[in-house]
Amino acid sequence: MRVLITGASSGIGRATSEKLLADGHQVIGLARDFDKFPCSDKNFITHSIDLADLDKLPARLKELTVHYPDLDALVLNAGRGQFGDLEQFSYEQIRALTDLNFTSHTFVARAFVPQMKRARHGHLIFTGSEAALTGTQKGSLYCAAKFALRGFAQALRAETARSGLRVTLINPGMVQSPFFDELDFQPGDDADNYILPEDVAEVITQALMARDGTVIDEINLSPQKKVRTSRRNKEGKQ
Ligand SMILES: NC(=O)c1ccc[n+]([C@@H]2O[C@H](COP(=O)([O-])OP(=O)(O)OC[C@H]3O[C@@H](n4cnc5c(N)ncnc54)[C@H](OP(=O)(O)O)[C@@H]3O)[C@@H](O)[C@H]2O)c1
Repeated sequence: MRVLITGASSGIGRATSEKLLADGHQVIGLARDFDKFPCSDKNFITHSIDLADLDKLPARLKELTVHYPDLDALVLNAGRGQFGDLEQFSYEQIRALTDLNFTSHTFVARAFVPQMKRARHGHLIFTGSEAALTGTQKGSLYCAAKFALRGFAQALRAETARSGLRVTLINPGMVQSPFFDELDFQPGDDADNYILPEDVAEVITQALMARDGTVIDEINLSPQKKVRTSRRNKEGKQ
């Protein structure tokens, strides 16, 4: 299987790449910086690309569709968290967050869906979030992008079903990953308070390997408990 994964340099995308490579598949990884994921597997091909740069994205995607006309699946996973009251965001920050967390995925899908439809074969897996299911305090923009992604995935599922495409949305709760590096909260230390990137990778792989004709539409997975700690609390600076 040949799978293109966005956000393959870290966290969920990295774990999914590692799992698929270990199982003998080929992975095309997209992210800005792969220095943090040195990988010598000959089946791992990387392209450094800023998915939030929407002006340049169509041309970059066009090159990729020419290079990879026969993908079996896309894992549309790149994203970042930014949380706060609405007025704490500049207009530019609102646009940048939405460009990456929502619009870039629609561009990647727009680029590859036509050839998948022609082949009557292809699977799009989106990394949503529990934030795609419930709006939460300080999450107006992050939740809005993830809600939009969920609507997009559901509509695309209906639109492409007769063309033989599969669309899956995975909604994780808190995953212990570098996602939290720049945030002022993180999952509690106890292992019941987070899921691991490898747990999400396992679910993505299961969805990919489902029998032809079966589509796993949507999966929610979350830690047993949902305790967050503030970084200031944790570092004793409160
Ligand atoms: N961690 C959680 O608790 C959690 C929960 C639910 C859903 N999610 C979602 O899961 C997805 C992956 O998150 P993660 O937890 O794995 O976080 P992560 O470890 O920070 O990984 C984020 C990935 O996105 C890539 N990325 C970020 N900005 C990019 C840009 N402008 N262009 C291209 N790639 C970019 C990063 O690569 P570079 O920095 O190298 O560009 C990295 O590979 C995100 O969509 C996130 O919203 C996370």
